[in-house]
Amino acid sequence: MKHIGILTSGGDAPGMNACIRAAVRAAHARDMDVVGINRGFTGLINDETQVLDRRTVANIIHLGGTILGTARSEEFKTRQGREKAALTLERHGLEGLIVIGGEGSFQGGTLLQNEYGLKIQGLPGTIDNDVFGTDQTIGFDTAVNCALEAVDRIRDTALSHERVFFLEVMGRNTGFIALESGISGGAEQLVIPEEPKNTDELCSRLKKSFSLGKKSAIIVVSEAGRPGHSVELAKDVENNTGFETKVCVLGHLQRGGAPTAGDRTLAGKLGVAAVNALYEEKSGYMPGIIRGRIALTPLHHTWERRKTLDPELKDLMSVLCD
Ligand code: F6P
Repeated sequence: MKHIGILTSGGDAPGMNACIRAAVRAAHARDMDVVGINRGFTGLINDETQVLDRRTVANIIHLGGTILGTARSEEFKTRQGREKAALTLERHGLEGLIVIGGEGSFQGGTLLQNEYGLKIQGLPGTIDNDVFGTDQTIGFDTAVNCALEAVDRIRDTALSHERVFFLEVMGRNTGFIALESGISGGAEQLVIPEEPKNTDELCSRLKKSFSLGKKSAIIVVSEAGRPGHSVELAKDVENNTGFETKVCVLGHLQRGGAPTAGDRTLAGKLGVAAVNALYEEKSGYMPGIIRGRIALTPLHHTWERRKTLDPELKDLMSVLCD
């Protein structure tokens, strides 16, 4: 394989640039050319591209976001949209494509593979960590560290004012970010979709720990598909317990900023693995890290199977959150 494309799709994640850089360098080492497709599948449809040589990817390893831009394309879901995308691929002589994103983006790439014979590799790039086939996604570690910093900062003011704080973090319909940042930040309670808790239960736990001398609390809440829902939850808890509550919705702060060392290293490993797989003419896989080693997971598993929370970490909730 001589000519490959690369795009980022869905929500941007810190480490995507490090991944683009790694893939471009690995490809050039194998005498393959790389075309960057701007704005995800939208750019593929509209032929918005840039040549990625060694110089283009210099000095981007530390940057958040994605130099290629990203989008969620409705047009690509239509056959006509994909026909236009296929024309762009043909125009640039692209034989393979690396799609950095989540399972929705991988489904898009797989359609191109099945309909037009393109060779595809998906790479897990999302802060949510909700992709089956890898212990961690690119961007997750940075997002967790951002949420952890928020927990630490909020603790100062929560303690000073003796308040109950609700810190809502992202994660789409999962609790990966909430669990990891809540455990590492010493949160008093966690509200995650994988372990549903009703408000009464939350209130009685809070009342119990306050009766034992606690004067403030931080509750890390996953957005759980309903961004902003912690405002209502905090109001219910305040009405039920009489404790003063405050809410902080962290939002897109978690998506930006320099990637952590962990995310850059992961991005490097996976970017190179995707190029190696294309070089070997493999298609329809997602290189990921499973128990410390690179593993290629069939792309369709990423949407057919569900990644679950680390059970050991989940068990820690009952011991450490109080
Ligand atoms: O998938 C990444 C993510 O940041 C989710 O955590 C969040 O639910 C969603 O994207 C927000 O999307 P948007 O940036 O389109 O509002």
